[in-house]
Amino acid sequence: MEHGKDYLVDISYVRSKEELHRLLKKALGLPDYYGMNLDALYDLLSEYRAMLTVTGQDEAAANVPELTDYLEALDRVCLDAEMHYEIESGKDENVPEEPEAEEAPEAAQEEEPKKEKVSVFFYCMRPYDMLPIAERYAAEHDIRMGWTTGYPATDGVDLAAGYDAVCVTPSDMGAEMLQAFADRGVKYISCNSIGYDHVDLEMAKELGMRVSNVAYPPSGVANYAIMLMMMCQRRIMQIMGRAGVQDFSLEGKIGKDISFSTVGVIGTGKIGGTVIRHLSGFGCRILCYDPYRNEEAAQYAEYTDLDTLFKESDIITLHTNATEENHHLLNAEAFAKMKKGVVIINTARGKLIDTDALISAIESGKVGAAALDVLEVEDGLYYANLEGKPIANRGMAVLRSFPNVIMSPHTAFYTEQAVRYMTEGCLAGPLAFAEGRDAEHTVL
Ligand SMILES: NC(=O)c1ccc[n+]([C@@H]2O[C@H](COP(=O)([O-])OP(=O)(O)OC[C@H]3O[C@@H](n4cnc5c(N)ncnc54)[C@H](O)[C@@H]3O)[C@@H](O)[C@H]2O)c1
Repeated sequence: MEHGKDYLVDISYVRSKEELHRLLKKALGLPDYYGMNLDALYDLLSEYRAMLTVTGQDEAAANVPELTDYLEALDRVCLDAEMHYEIESGKDENVPEEPEAEEAPEAAQEEEPKKEKVSVFFYCMRPYDMLPIAERYAAEHDIRMGWTTGYPATDGVDLAAGYDAVCVTPSDMGAEMLQAFADRGVKYISCNSIGYDHVDLEMAKELGMRVSNVAYPPSGVANYAIMLMMMCQRRIMQIMGRAGVQDFSLEGKIGKDISFSTVGVIGTGKIGGTVIRHLSGFGCRILCYDPYRNEEAAQYAEYTDLDTLFKESDIITLHTNATEENHHLLNAEAFAKMKKGVVIINTARGKLIDTDALISAIESGKVGAAALDVLEVEDGLYYANLEGKPIANRGMAVLRSFPNVIMSPHTAFYTEQAVRYMTEGCLAGPLAFAEGRDAEHTVL
């Protein structure tokens, strides 16, 4: 790995943002498939402790006025990276000395390169969070790694040629795609998700491919659900919104204390069970429903039938997987059975709620507040940056217009801990297969 490399890039003749990206990529010696944005650039400069000096910014901005904002951001990235460089050079007294291993003696540097144990190509790599974790794990376990930010369908299967495994986030992994990967020598499919229903397992079996998925602790989603409950009950969006315009008056901000509430938990699997255990610390009454009893949950919550849960809960939180049977589990009939002003939390799956029925229940005041991390139709929305674009999703538009609805873009899982588990798991699966073991999360 190179340390302290200097890059000098003259951008004075750049005429567009795309051209700027191409130039930076070329100057930094990045392959074509390297996704380029400011986060990626920052990671790169930090990782390689590199200095990027950009000249000709004024000329570029004069040529293309829209570049001004981007160039300002680029300046900040360079500044941050420079600070990082100084820290790594030991100029910052608050930072401990580099560990000795970094200063490898010459003899060690001349050692034979270690043989790779397995090679993995990542699709949908996120340079701003997954990449540093993956690179560290790959280096520690002698794994050769390649990556792109796009999907197999957009960036092509050829990128994975010569790799033992591909890592994919949920996207088309049907028979044709698997065959295309197999034709290029890929033997293992590593799912960067808990779900693997997008992979044609029959075909994978026929091709002799092995498949692994990942897991991460349920506490991240569980705690997010509890946070949403309290955000709704304490009207925090209204409090913060009004504080933003210096309205510090109390009227209309009164909340409800979760400790005096009855919380109904539907689905007592890994996440629902954790919600119940964590909620027990708040001293609230907890009701729960699941066709399968979870003995640990039963220590803290009362199992009951669905109608009783609907009738007696102040807050209802969904933690079931989505099946044909529970499609629109919360529909007009279900809302009719609930308490007036009930709070609805959904961090599970959008299809569990009939969006139109929820809208009517909010309009009538039956539902007092809702917090939705998932939507009935969220394909193409989450996780895209659609800033400034019209969104063709009327259900979402109406829900967003309500002051008592909180929506987040399927981010309940998104913690540093979960990303580490998922990213390392993507590499650990193929590594286990290559070593003739089952992976910790073997699908096939
Ligand atoms: N928002 C996010 O970022 C995020 C992240 C991870 C998981 N999830 C979702 O959270 C949900 C729960 O995940 P988990 O890991 O706890 O799953 P799990 O399989 O451990 O638990 C699901 C539970 O739901 C129960 N169930 C199924 N149908 C039911 C019904 N009709 N009524 C009551 N219970 C029913 C099952 O018996 C099971 O106990 C899933 O829908 C999952 O997709 C969301």
